[in-house]
Amino acid sequence: MRLKIIAGNWKMNKTNPEALELVRGLISSVGHVDNPRVVLCPPFTALSEVARLLKGHSYFLGAQNMYSKESGAFTGEIAPAMLLTIGVSYVILGHSERREYFSESDGIVNEKVKLAIKTGLIPIVCIGEKLEEREQGKTEEVVGRQLDGSLANLSEEEFRKVVIAYEPVWAIGTGRTATPEMAQEVHRFIRERLEKRYSELARQVSILYGGSVTGENAHGLLSMPDIDGALVGGASLKIDQFTKIIKSA
Ligand code: PGA
Repeated sequence: MRLKIIAGNWKMNKTNPEALELVRGLISSVGHVDNPRVVLCPPFTALSEVARLLKGHSYFLGAQNMYSKESGAFTGEIAPAMLLTIGVSYVILGHSERREYFSESDGIVNEKVKLAIKTGLIPIVCIGEKLEEREQGKTEEVVGRQLDGSLANLSEEEFRKVVIAYEPVWAIGTGRTATPEMAQEVHRFIRERLEKRYSELARQVSILYGGSVTGENAHGLLSMPDIDGALVGGASLKIDQFTKIIKSA
């Protein structure tokens, strides 16, 4: 049985008072939930306060990024142990916005993935093709390359800790989502590619879909055999929408 995960990526939204208001609203709207596992990923500045609010609740906390080193002279960066010790369990790595605006390569993502696992965080590793790549028929080539590069040199023991998120870049924040069939096709491709490296273990890894997931389209996407959850951006900031997505799972 694969773990179903619904993760909310808040991106650069919500001041601390706004974050607490959103979390309080979610708790009263959703209540206790073990399956799917719900992971909230607020900005760094809200993590501590949200962690305090989530104590005793069934929700998990995630960060949206971290640095690839354990400590030291890296002004402005956040180390994984800093996250772990305030109650963070998950970390989103290699999001397309990090790749695009902050020049994160597969090599950088790979360093971060390895360090996250070593520290005890669960990485949510994001991969996905751009529109022109899809139109040129290069989806599998791009997704395969990102997958191999981001997970390079992971032992079986390390691979067990990983969560994958397939997020076609053209579907992120655009309102243009992949159909359940389009998403399933790529999810299956990802799982088959992982099977070649990790055999049985590839059947246990959770592969989330991300890109304009809403309360309305979640059910169709989540009914697909290789879609094990969702990484939700915009709709995770709306209590009614995020509640619907959690209930669909
Ligand atoms: P979106 O973002 O749901 O707003 O499209 C998804 C993501 O970037 O993780």
